[in-house]
Amino acid sequence: MRQFKLDNRLQTCADFITAGAKIADIGTDHAYLPIWLVMNNKIKSAVASDLNILPLKKAEENLKKYNVEDNIKIVQSDGLTRINPHEVDEIVIAGMGGELISQIIDGASWVKKEKKRLILQPVSSESDLRIYLRDNKFKLQRERAVLSFGRIYTVFSAIYTGKFNKTEIEYPYVGKLYEEINKTSVEYLKRQIKDLENQNKGNLLRKNKEDYFSNLCIIKRIKKIISDFGGENFERES
Ligand SMILES: C[S@@+](CC[C@H](N)C(=O)[O-])C[C@H]1O[C@@H](n2cnc3c(N)ncnc32)[C@H](O)[C@@H]1O
Repeated sequence: MRQFKLDNRLQTCADFITAGAKIADIGTDHAYLPIWLVMNNKIKSAVASDLNILPLKKAEENLKKYNVEDNIKIVQSDGLTRINPHEVDEIVIAGMGGELISQIIDGASWVKKEKKRLILQPVSSESDLRIYLRDNKFKLQRERAVLSFGRIYTVFSAIYTGKFNKTEIEYPYVGKLYEEINKTSVEYLKRQIKDLENQNKGNLLRKNKEDYFSNLCIIKRIKKIISDFGGENFERES
């Protein structure tokens, strides 16, 4: 049987999936993730879904190519609207913007009711997605930063708890990265610091003192996470 490798981003999604889980890959495109998971015996079956017909055709061709047509069901669906909750334990939504990911989760109340585990990989607005999850009583379980084709992404898993999970001030920018910190997370965190510093240029101009000082506090905390990891001695600088 032909084998293939996933890129680091999809490989991290694959690492986060529980062995033996029934998964739905929303916005599957080429369906590489579910195909890889089946071929590597991590899961037995999956639902691969996409909104658009062209990606689904591509997915279908790949299922044939890798001989996994009996294990993976293809469904055309806008988000989770046409996914049968009983066929799914864990849901992967990768390669989309954070806002679209939160809209997709929001559109299916069964995700909360049945406490389906989510594996999410936003390509933008990840701070907004973290805030959406917290405000909707999901708890981040783990998060890892990953370098893929020269870009840094983060992958996280989350589950509905029904309780408001109190978070620290830096949460929207850091999520749970501090628990699985590596050199890539440090690069990601430095980018977050730059972002906050840029925001603060605007805050200074607008004399928005509250946001300015709040951002300074977040920057200080992120620098501490980096220096605790041994990344850079920011403590001495500030
Ligand atoms: C950039 S691709 C990501 C493919 C794959 N998940 C990955 O991470 O490599 C985004 C895919 O999401 C699909 N998509 C966009 N909006 C969607 C929606 N509302 N519901 C389902 N799929 C959607 C697109 O058709 C496209 O195939």
